[in-house]
Amino acid sequence: MSTTKTYILGIESSCDDTSASVICNGRVLSNIVANQEVHSKYGGVVPELASRAHQQNIVPVVQQAIEQAGIDKRDLNAIAFTRGPGLMGSLLVGTSFAKSLAMGLDIPLIDVNHMQAHILAHFIIEEDSKIPPFPFVCLTISGGHTQLVKVSNHFDMEVLGETIDDAVGEAFDKSAKILGLPYPGGPLIDKYAQQGNPKAFTFTKPKVGDLDFSFSGLKTGILYFIQRNVKENPNFIKENLLDICASIQHTIVEILMDKLKNTVKKTGITNIAIAGGVSANSEIRKRLQLAEKHIGWITFIPKFQYTTDNAAMIAITGYLKYLNNTYADVDVTAKARLKVTE
Ligand code: KG4
Ligand code: ZN
Repeated sequence: MSTTKTYILGIESSCDDTSASVICNGRVLSNIVANQEVHSKYGGVVPELASRAHQQNIVPVVQQAIEQAGIDKRDLNAIAFTRGPGLMGSLLVGTSFAKSLAMGLDIPLIDVNHMQAHILAHFIIEEDSKIPPFPFVCLTISGGHTQLVKVSNHFDMEVLGETIDDAVGEAFDKSAKILGLPYPGGPLIDKYAQQGNPKAFTFTKPKVGDLDFSFSGLKTGILYFIQRNVKENPNFIKENLLDICASIQHTIVEILMDKLKNTVKKTGITNIAIAGGVSANSEIRKRLQLAEKHIGWITFIPKFQYTTDNAAMIAITGYLKYLNNTYADVDVTAKARLKVTE
């Protein structure tokens, strides 16, 4: 019996990573990510520099993804690209490139919502993959978003709660900046936290209703705490870096876990997934594994390569849309703001 092979090329360029991936029937053949080092010295992503770097990277990154997949571009069945949300100048590079290539190859074009893609990365098929059953709740935690989403089907999603100000990734990155660490600081806080005492310092947790989040007060609290202590001891950060990182991380992860517990109580759903860049964090991963062991949740934790921005998540979402024959028109435009339900 022969099975048809469906090859989808995914292209991601919403922020500061240029990425391309080829998947075949839901399995990843290649997933190339070019990070943009240029932003680290500015303490955050500079939109103008990001779009310029995407322009430089997009052709070689796509070529490498096709080559590594061991196929010819004429084997592709469709091209999926990130339509939004993201930085307009960055989105335009991927959108224009995807359109031109799809037209040149005369194959369908599929627009993908970046936030849906973070969640749908859980549907990538691998030997040891654990695919969430519907309905499940996904906590999407990234540099731009913090959302609790009820997923009833691949494209049937409902936002249960979200941040009213900063995203959790920003809380990590801004805290890191206060400590003098380079951008993006989230992974560094995680690294130092592993050797520190999470109970060394306490920070006030925000009080926001129900299933919503707030991180701007925490950021200010951390800033004042550091300023106060540095005034008394100029070497405070250096002498306590590991404990400060562990305490910040512990506070953030406690906030996330509290909200997840509220969600389970409210919805009765115990299938819990995490997605987005911050889902790479070792403590949130550990806490979810413990919840599976001790309180009966069934947890879905993405592989590291599918947590931060990557094109494999765009390609799998494209594949799921391809199976539904949901294509984009040639006049589709990038959208900087796009809800997960759009
Ligand atoms: O999903 P992503 O790559 O981009 C957005 O769509 O925003 O997420 C990037 C965010 C950054 O804020 C980065 O600091 C954070 O994910 N991040 C982490 C870790 N790895 C990445 N935060 C905490 N711990 C980590 N290990
Ligand atoms: Zn993202």
